[in-house]
Amino acid sequence: MRLLGRLPGQLAVAGLCISAALGIAFAQSGFEPRVGQEGKDVVWVPTPQALVDRMLNMARVTKEDFVMDLGSGDGRTVITAAKRGARALGVEYNPDMVELSKRNAAKEGVAGRATFVKADLFETDFSRASVVTMFLLPEINLKLRPKILGLKAGTRIVSNSFDMGDWRADETATLTAADGCGPSYCTALLWIVPARVAGTHKLPQGELTLTQEYQMLSGTLRTEGRTLALEGKVRGEIVSFTAGGREYRGRMNGGSLELR
Ligand SMILES: C[S@@+](CC[C@H](N)C(=O)[O-])C[C@H]1O[C@@H](n2cnc3c(N)ncnc32)[C@H](O)[C@@H]1O
Repeated sequence: MRLLGRLPGQLAVAGLCISAALGIAFAQSGFEPRVGQEGKDVVWVPTPQALVDRMLNMARVTKEDFVMDLGSGDGRTVITAAKRGARALGVEYNPDMVELSKRNAAKEGVAGRATFVKADLFETDFSRASVVTMFLLPEINLKLRPKILGLKAGTRIVSNSFDMGDWRADETATLTAADGCGPSYCTALLWIVPARVAGTHKLPQGELTLTQEYQMLSGTLRTEGRTLALEGKVRGEIVSFTAGGREYRGRMNGGSLELR
């Protein structure tokens, strides 16, 4: 289903208002973006600025980051990240939106850090990103999921509204009208790419056998002649679990797990 097909009436009206405002703002350039305009795999609907801010907060974007927005629209997420000092790259299929984004970045004084390419997000290498942002569709997120799970452990992924199937988000936040967002597309979801930790690890604390489903861990810890069941999580490279009523924490360092 196309994104605009899901827009409720109120949002469609809001979309028309945004379109009108954008029309005035961009009339001089000769190109007026329209909410709902075609965009290859998903139409253009801008993320409300309050949610852009929240998404970047959730991902804890700093000047150390390289942020990539897949399907970057008018460039607002990339420009906002650049204003925080990050380097940011927007990947957008529509060449008019790419040029509009470049003009917007220049107006905001961040053209040096906020860059844009006209490209298909499915053919784009985003492995250099420390943060990936997107407002696409659930089925597109699912198509991208294998590539995302192969990114460096600790890479933060933030999506406006749409989930990643059975890979549950690490954090979710929904804004309201009082926060400056509404009535729809006001939920931010964050995933942190988990290190691959499944298998048996022989450690000073015992023999740890981990089964991993995305960031969720189960398994056993054999220690002091006992075999304890465990439940835990891996957040980037940080492993934490509970076994035998005790909490353990460790880090994947290269291929080996160090447990405290
Ligand atoms: C829902 S809008 C989100 C825009 C922006 N990320 C935001 O949050 O405001 C999706 C954008 O993805 C672009 N798009 C759709 N399919 C694409 C593709 N295969 N490659 C690159 N961009 C694409 C559309 O042109 C549109 O600008």
